[in-house]
Amino acid sequence: MLQIGSLKLENWLIMAPMAGITSLPFRLIVKKLGAGLVTTEMISAEGLIRGQKTTLSYLKSHPDERPLSVQIFGSKPEVMARAAGIVVKAGANIVDINMGCPVKKIIKNGAGGALLRSPQRVKEIVTAVRRSCQVPLTVKIRPGWSIDKSVAVETARLIEDCGADAVTIHPRFVKQGFSGKADWNIIADVKEQLKIPVIGNGDVLDPSLALQMKRQTGCDGVMIGRGAIGNPWIFKQILDMEDGRAIRQPGLHERRTLIMEHFRLLSVSIGEHRAAKTMRGLLLWYTKGLPHSSRFRGLITSIKDCNTLVSALDQYFSTLEDEKI
Ligand SMILES: Cc1cc2nc3c(=O)[nH]c(=O)nc-3n(C[C@H](O)[C@H](O)[C@H](O)COP(=O)(O)O)c2cc1C
Repeated sequence: MLQIGSLKLENWLIMAPMAGITSLPFRLIVKKLGAGLVTTEMISAEGLIRGQKTTLSYLKSHPDERPLSVQIFGSKPEVMARAAGIVVKAGANIVDINMGCPVKKIIKNGAGGALLRSPQRVKEIVTAVRRSCQVPLTVKIRPGWSIDKSVAVETARLIEDCGADAVTIHPRFVKQGFSGKADWNIIADVKEQLKIPVIGNGDVLDPSLALQMKRQTGCDGVMIGRGAIGNPWIFKQILDMEDGRAIRQPGLHERRTLIMEHFRLLSVSIGEHRAAKTMRGLLLWYTKGLPHSSRFRGLITSIKDCNTLVSALDQYFSTLEDEKI
């Protein structure tokens, strides 16, 4: 069990925030499949306080996904504090601050990973957000700007001193983007120095790696990103493995049913047209490693409407079932 501030989670597994992926439909799916906590994608604090319609739509939630962590990004303490107030009012159970995003557009505005170059700004933001919200507060960081200078431990300590309830560390430097390997030794270093829970993140791409990260670093929780895209079953698989139960791979029928459910939830949430486009991308992950998947992917790249996509999906899975794969 993992406790963040006053909030007791069902288990130690957390779905990572991922822009374009961790929308409400996906969060509902992974929650049902065992995630102890789900997180929204990063939401612009500026957009929230200006009441921008699209930004506010990211706050849409459902009781079945709770507890919900809402991640905000920005560079101005007062704006972040006001945004935190808005997300709490909208029902966030945890406020999470993004201090690691390497995307140019975010960095250019002094937010995300850019904050790791300014401890004073880190202090001001965490202090201001802490003051403005009563729910548990977490901060997601990288170990620093570039590999030659890790500021992981001092940044995490500073965040703890400013009153945060947990720190998540993804141990790739901002300049690395997503290249190279996550250096789990950094997670261990941070864990050793902090009193609040430390959540490790990075390269947990199969169930055994989650247990390995926990064992190797002593972290209190493990956050999973890419390992859950296309395999939302990973959370249940990890819990089974932890309890010594055999890991179950989803059969074809189960996989097809889940894909259809994902598609249905997306259609309800964003409309059929946009759902078809999003689903085309997700199907690349859902069919990874299945026979004839590259042919199937080629086939669906040009499909724009919902019904044709569902037919292609049905046909693909029927073929696999006929071949008794
Ligand atoms: C498509 C994509 C979108 C992401 N969006 C966010 C985001 O909105 N906020 C954030 O803190 N991290 C974001 N990340 C980073 C992940 O949360 C995570 O830190 C990273 O993928 C490493 O974990 P993994 O190896 O388990 O995927 C994103 C990653 C991916 C692949």
